[in-house]
Amino acid sequence: MTRHVLAIETSCDETAAAVISETYEVRSSVVASQIDLHAEFGGVVPELASRAHVELITPIISQALAEARITGPELSAVAVTSGPGLVGALLVGIATAKSLALAWGIPVVSVNHLEGHLASVFLADRAVPFPQTALLVSGGHCMLTRATSLGSYELLGETVDDSIGEAYDKVARYLGLGYPGGPVLDRLAATGRDVLNFPRPMLADGYGFSFSGLKTAVVNYVRKEPAFVVADVAASFVAACMDVLIAKIRRAMREFGDPALAIVGGVAASPILRDRARIIADEFSSTLLIPPQSLATDNAAMIGIAGWQKFVAHGGDDMRFGPQPDLRLNFR
Ligand code: KG4
Ligand code: ZN
Repeated sequence: MTRHVLAIETSCDETAAAVISETYEVRSSVVASQIDLHAEFGGVVPELASRAHVELITPIISQALAEARITGPELSAVAVTSGPGLVGALLVGIATAKSLALAWGIPVVSVNHLEGHLASVFLADRAVPFPQTALLVSGGHCMLTRATSLGSYELLGETVDDSIGEAYDKVARYLGLGYPGGPVLDRLAATGRDVLNFPRPMLADGYGFSFSGLKTAVVNYVRKEPAFVVADVAASFVAACMDVLIAKIRRAMREFGDPALAIVGGVAASPILRDRARIIADEFSSTLLIPPQSLATDNAAMIGIAGWQKFVAHGGDDMRFGPQPDLRLNFR
């Protein structure tokens, strides 16, 4: 009989649950976004996020189980994000996962959210080659890694200040475009022109990233030019971000020549990044690994896949684990 895990994700502002088979079939994936709750503040308010998770978690899990037509005691384990993320938000998912695992008499598996994003490439295709050059671009992170084998990572570089998603969100907030900034800036960028010559920070400096100066350049330009064309600002900002990401990927592809290029995290939902990633992967005859657009942003299906990988390799966790807000990837 095929085994299944229930996966739970509450690290930030999505309350999500999914049921994933051991062959990575997504039997259900439910995501309740709190975007409307946080939009008026232009970003996530941690206390509001925790409270919303408390209200949403039980109905979301019930829905995921119902859609998968499975009951708790039929599951093999509960996988849950233990970090990185907002401490109060993580705590809701962890407490729920432990209670359910105890009630159903099954193990609980703690999952690193970043490993979840990296595992999201298995949602497109189970045949995932290694080693991979992997770009993780989200609201919380911007890092270039190499996944040499399943669960083994080497850090090439990361941002020294803002993550790229954070830069999108801050620029969008400054322009009065709402939260989250990624989708709206992408849409506007498609109608504008890259004519404003914004800086491409750290373009020639190894594998590090920096987006804070670019964000400030956008803000300064908008302050100076009251008649700015918002679509051109969006197009010029997005083009600067993309040029930096692609330059770093090109450097890594030249240096390591990995057979696969993975692009994961919320910003991987960007059609502009998806197109540019396809072009660079083709340039190096590398297999492009990218999750389906709807599963690039936070979801529990990716936590279920990473959960299965960890469960198969190491079994369940001791119940005493707690939230790890600053959890990093385990670089070897
Ligand atoms: O992975 P994610 O859902 O949450 C974190 O783990 O941080 O990423 C959220 C980020 C937000 O900053 C959002 O603006 C960005 O992903 N994002 C996008 C798009 N959709 C979401 N950025 C660019 N283009 C998009 N279509
Ligand atoms: Zn995420």
